[in-house]
Amino acid sequence: MTTLCTILFTLLLLFVCCSARRTYLFPGIGHKSPKQPLQTSRPFNLAHRGSNGEFPEETAAAYRRSIKEGADFIETDILSSKDGVLVCHHDVILDITTDIAEHKEFAGRQRAYDVQGFNITGFFIVDFTWKELQTLRAKQRFSFRDQQYNGKFPIITFDEYISIALDASRAVGIYPEIKDPVFINEHVKWPNGKRFEDVFVDTLKKYGYRGSYLSKHWLKQPCFIQSFAPSSLVYISSKTDLPKIFLIGHTAWQTEDTKQTFLEVTSDAYFNYIKKYVVGIGPGKDTVVPAVNNHLQAPTDLVVRAHAHSLQVHPYTFRNEYQYIHFEFHQDPYIEFDFWINKMGVDGLFTDFTGSLHDFQEWTSPLSPGNGERP
Ligand SMILES: *[C@@H]1O[C@H](CO)[C@@H](O)[C@H](O)[C@H]1NC(C)=O
Repeated sequence: MTTLCTILFTLLLLFVCCSARRTYLFPGIGHKSPKQPLQTSRPFNLAHRGSNGEFPEETAAAYRRSIKEGADFIETDILSSKDGVLVCHHDVILDITTDIAEHKEFAGRQRAYDVQGFNITGFFIVDFTWKELQTLRAKQRFSFRDQQYNGKFPIITFDEYISIALDASRAVGIYPEIKDPVFINEHVKWPNGKRFEDVFVDTLKKYGYRGSYLSKHWLKQPCFIQSFAPSSLVYISSKTDLPKIFLIGHTAWQTEDTKQTFLEVTSDAYFNYIKKYVVGIGPGKDTVVPAVNNHLQAPTDLVVRAHAHSLQVHPYTFRNEYQYIHFEFHQDPYIEFDFWINKMGVDGLFTDFTGSLHDFQEWTSPLSPGNGERP
């Protein structure tokens, strides 16, 4: 165990030392073609907000790290600035993951808004122009994660995020969520009556993203569009054939747009309807296999039923820290990956620790025999 720790620590040091990244290059510059294609022989490694277990979430550093660590897809949340610029940020408020509290010039900009039925107070992203957002710096969300990169990286735009994926030396997919569309459409207006969904799809088209799941073009520029709002996914389906994933919240949640409950949207009748528009679902892992007092319970039939409807299942969120790993996995994320991949049979995993999932998959189902290396 000590030897293993030493090896892991040395590896960690090596990665940290090699982390000085060049600044962003325009897509297509500096890599040979054709690129190494997207792997499709094992469940997708979905880098949740980039490698945010190591770097502040949704920053260029977090995304570049996750690509280096073997991500099949880099995942993000798209919100909008006051002046309609699409940016990568998870929360509608800036309080938790940026240094806004240190910006005295914005001290008077706190507001309280209704967000999906909750009265939330904070500094809302929709009250800041892109020029203002550029002055902020990201910080780590969780106190138990590495804080050394706080204040170092800016918020990035949807365009910059796409460019990071396109700039990779192999085919790396994007997995953008159209985030809180009801709230965004209420607070941000675009010219010519365009709504959030239109501007979102326009951006994807601008960079050449198109094609259905596993189509020739899709494999070159893979993309899943995800949302918790089914009406946004249905609307987007009329604009692009890119594959879509319907996200499903916790069991007490309801959809922000159609106000449907968890039970309704996970019924066979609903799967029959939504499968005309989406290729899969993205449920929280605890709704697929419930936990009580951190002990795993019997799995629900959600994966089996989704598969019976030819829907993929991409559960969230896999995190290495003990707070998120049920006792049955003995604090070991690899045992958790084994359970979800080999017993539950899921098709993709959203993880904060892309490197760990990649290592597990290379050990247990290597893409090429004897290849234990990160790409
Ligand atoms: C929302 O919360 C704020 C701050 O606590 C409060 O001032 C405001 O009255 C609340 N609004 C509603 C509609 O409850």
